[in-house]
Amino acid sequence: MNAIQPPSTPARKRLHVITWGCQMNVYDSGRMADVLAPLGYAPAAEPDGADMVILNTCHIRDKAAEKVFSELGRLRRLKEATGNRMILAVAGCVAQAEGAEILARAPYVDIVLGPQTYHRLPEMVAQASRAAGAVIETEFPEEDKFDHLPESKTPQGPAAFLTIQEGCDKFCSFCVVPYTRGAETSRSAAAILSEARHLVAQGTKEISLLGQNVNAWHGAGTDGASWGLGRLLRELAAIEGLTRLRYATSHPRDMDDDLIAAHRDLPGLMPFLHLPVQSGSDRILAAMNRKHTADDYRRIIDRLRAARPDLALSSDFIVGHPGETDADHAATMALVRDVGFAQAYSFKYSPRPGTPAAGAAQQVPEDVKDRRLQELQALLREQQAAFGAGCVGLDMPVLFTGLGRHPGQIVGRSPYLQPVHLSGDAKLIGTEAIVRIVAAHPNSLAGTLIQERQIA
Ligand code: SAH
Ligand code: SF4
Ligand code: F3S
Repeated sequence: MNAIQPPSTPARKRLHVITWGCQMNVYDSGRMADVLAPLGYAPAAEPDGADMVILNTCHIRDKAAEKVFSELGRLRRLKEATGNRMILAVAGCVAQAEGAEILARAPYVDIVLGPQTYHRLPEMVAQASRAAGAVIETEFPEEDKFDHLPESKTPQGPAAFLTIQEGCDKFCSFCVVPYTRGAETSRSAAAILSEARHLVAQGTKEISLLGQNVNAWHGAGTDGASWGLGRLLRELAAIEGLTRLRYATSHPRDMDDDLIAAHRDLPGLMPFLHLPVQSGSDRILAAMNRKHTADDYRRIIDRLRAARPDLALSSDFIVGHPGETDADHAATMALVRDVGFAQAYSFKYSPRPGTPAAGAAQQVPEDVKDRRLQELQALLREQQAAFGAGCVGLDMPVLFTGLGRHPGQIVGRSPYLQPVHLSGDAKLIGTEAIVRIVAAHPNSLAGTLIQERQIA
């Protein structure tokens, strides 16, 4: 009788992933590592000498492609230093938008793959290893990658990301996402709940649900009925040990009654919401194809604050969209003053090839964009500082996520996503406790431990 052979364990290989762009890219990088793990790839902190390097790219603004080519120049030298053993892959939204150009300009790249094809990575690696020429996968496949990816096995720590929705059908005038990520799709509630339970079993206490339009999520629930995000949040909130929930990024148009009610009903749904408005001018909102007015946004905020009075808000703004006048900009400033934001991102409009706004007449001169951006950012900074100052003296639950920069220091996050630094034992990491806030800095808070709270 033949001796039974143990299954062969693949040789250990080193995988380094460089991630640019949004939180969804961070999540995707983790899933690419998951899909490559059975092939023997283990994470490496540095690209030097790695067997494979993946550059996960973002195409949202500015010289995205140029930044990719300059990083590829650096990686090429590292690849040559391995005797060209290193497999070099470009993933993400630049890969999707400019895949052919990448292979033309950087022929030493082995694999170019769009965001909807990650589940096919093992095949692509096998093909690249046979030195059969470069592999390019930028079609939007028929199958849903989530049905073909293994369950996420990599522990993410106390605060984790979980992508529940991908793609976008909204086609804002300025945005590349519908072209790089494809049509809007939602994962099933069963898959999401299973992944969430898995994360919690590995020690996660806080989950941020992700999607390009996360509140457009809808799908068949585990009871066969059609669920929206509000219902999904209620089911997730019932998972024992999952004490904090967030979701990003939302569109004002998909803020439905049940989702607003979830903010009232679920204490674990954190009182901090990123709800981008982009502009406070109805003319520009129309030109942007946002399909809501500035007052629609104000009303949504009023309803959210009525549901959850301690809710703090965050937004994205674009200044200098084609056609934007000083009066339009003043309307944005007025909206910011009316709403009051705890935090916000603001950008100069950046023409993206292939989007409607890029070809529009009335592009705004660069110096005007600069001036408007400075004005807006000064106001937003002021509001953020006022919000931080208002936190001083409060006792708030903080989830400890890691070590601080100084010895004996740990860092956590407040309900409002501010980093909180304090003196504390490393064994607190992964737990939640009440912290008294003693000082506010521009982008973080300092606190002292008041009382440890037992978390189930
Ligand atoms: N789905 C989200 C945003 C995704 S992109 C939403 O609808 O709000 C993230 C942010 O990048 C956007 O909110 C927008 O403020 C900014 N952005 C997108 N395209 C841009 C462009 N061409 N120029 C400048 N900023 C842009
Ligand atoms: Fe881009 Fe608009 Fe879609 Fe957001 S909603 S991803 S800004 S097209
Ligand atoms: Fe960038 Fe693509 Fe995310 S363009 S912002 S990585 S969806």
